[in-house]
Amino acid sequence: MSSGGENIGLLEKPPVDAPAPAPEASARTRRVHIKTFGCQMNVYDSERMSEALGAGGYTATDTPEDASLVLLNTCHIREKAAEKVYSELGRIRAIKIRRAGIGQETMVVVAGCVAQAEGAEIIRRAPVVDLVIGPQSYHRLPALIARIQSGERGLVETEFPEEDKFEHLPERQLAPRARRQTTAFLTAQEGCDKFCTFCVVPYTRGAELSRPVARLVEEARRLVDQGVRELTLLGQNVNAYHGAGPDGNAWSLARLIGALSEIDGLERLRYMTSHPRDMSDDLIAAHANEPKLMPYLHLPFQAGADRILAAMNRKHTAADYMALVGRLRRARPDLALSTDIIVGFPGETDAEFEATLAMVREVVFAQAYSFKYSPRPGTPAASMDRQVPEPVKAERLQRLQALLEEQQSAFARGLVGRTVPVLFEKAGRKPGQLIGRSPYLQSVHVEAADAWLGRVADTAILSAGPNSLAGVIKAQ
Ligand code: SAH
Ligand code: SF4
Ligand code: F3S
Repeated sequence: MSSGGENIGLLEKPPVDAPAPAPEASARTRRVHIKTFGCQMNVYDSERMSEALGAGGYTATDTPEDASLVLLNTCHIREKAAEKVYSELGRIRAIKIRRAGIGQETMVVVAGCVAQAEGAEIIRRAPVVDLVIGPQSYHRLPALIARIQSGERGLVETEFPEEDKFEHLPERQLAPRARRQTTAFLTAQEGCDKFCTFCVVPYTRGAELSRPVARLVEEARRLVDQGVRELTLLGQNVNAYHGAGPDGNAWSLARLIGALSEIDGLERLRYMTSHPRDMSDDLIAAHANEPKLMPYLHLPFQAGADRILAAMNRKHTAADYMALVGRLRRARPDLALSTDIIVGFPGETDAEFEATLAMVREVVFAQAYSFKYSPRPGTPAASMDRQVPEPVKAERLQRLQALLEEQQSAFARGLVGRTVPVLFEKAGRKPGQLIGRSPYLQSVHVEAADAWLGRVADTAILSAGPNSLAGVIKAQ
């Protein structure tokens, strides 16, 4: 459930373990275990790190006990996310000690946004860590690992480097197990210059940087050649994309989407996350004109009261957001929206929280991620007066999530009886069953032959459960 339970945002997924290893090449094969926390950008980075390590002879394992290299790719967005890293390091320390008992070495690397934010502090708190490496430096990972192998310890690499990591990484080569994967992430833009007062991302990821169009088209082609059918372009503000185009001009996200749409074999495109301020006219038009662009948009609004939005430095009002939603829905009437919302930002009154609820009722979301405000060290909001007490935040979150869950299930029920295109991704639990995704990222279960894997089929939706839909492929 997206809006319930733990703080799991669209840009923050439950930790995922790396894919299982390819068959063992030799008894001396070096193994890496990567555990990823946080947003899709971290998932993408872990894939790239895994591929770079693969080129250096490492195979992936999902059992940390078997790994001579354990890498945590971390998230700093909320307090709980950061604390998870230290408890995970406690577990890894125990594994390292056990492995040492049987004569096996274990290198421990902390990468990602906690690495960037805490740097050497991580090694002070958890001396088991051999290397701390920030999100913009991981192209240097193989060289740093070689230094650890030759006996160095306690390395910290968190300067923002001059060079662009993407230009120094090996070309995309999906891991053998991932080769049948039909969907992939593609980071189009890094960093963030928006400095919302609650947020650590501008500090952990650095300045906004758009990758050149040609590099993205090339990477997309390679992924499609390897079987990928759906790409999600990533960036903390991906709709502010302005990468160098082949003509020497800066291209907008809409133009990039146009170029990627021309790739044969690519069926679907998505992008996330978008800032309401950067929803340009050509991008809104792309929702009307680009058939490969899915009618589903993640557009965080954070809060319903203009005073809070101003204090958050969002630089848009509730009315701006509503007007934007109206324009998007006129461009693409079947467009559905998801969003992020924070409750209990410093100074938020009951009436201001009610404004957030009113906004949710007015827009109606297919999906939403909602969080209690979590003060982050070094951000302006953390030192603002009138921090909201924890029980008030908890009560507001509960009320908000009840409303969001109602909207989410109403949206799913609304699809029953309709026909939607579904991209089939994997076999279901029962023989003869496949699982695919609707345009709105819901799982759809059907009875169908394996030949449908990797293909899109018009599917009549028969029923809606709490977490998935069931349907039947229409005669094609
Ligand atoms: N770039 C995206 C958001 C990235 S972080 C955007 O601008 O919308 C994902 C979500 O985490 C945010 O949208 C916000 O809702 C939430 N978030 C970020 N910092 C937070 C904090 N300090 N406390 C609680 N939620 C936070
Ligand atoms: Fe954080 Fe705001 Fe940047 Fe999003 S736009 S990453 S919330 S600073
Ligand atoms: Fe977390 Fe960093 Fe992503 S703080 S949400 S992993 S950009």
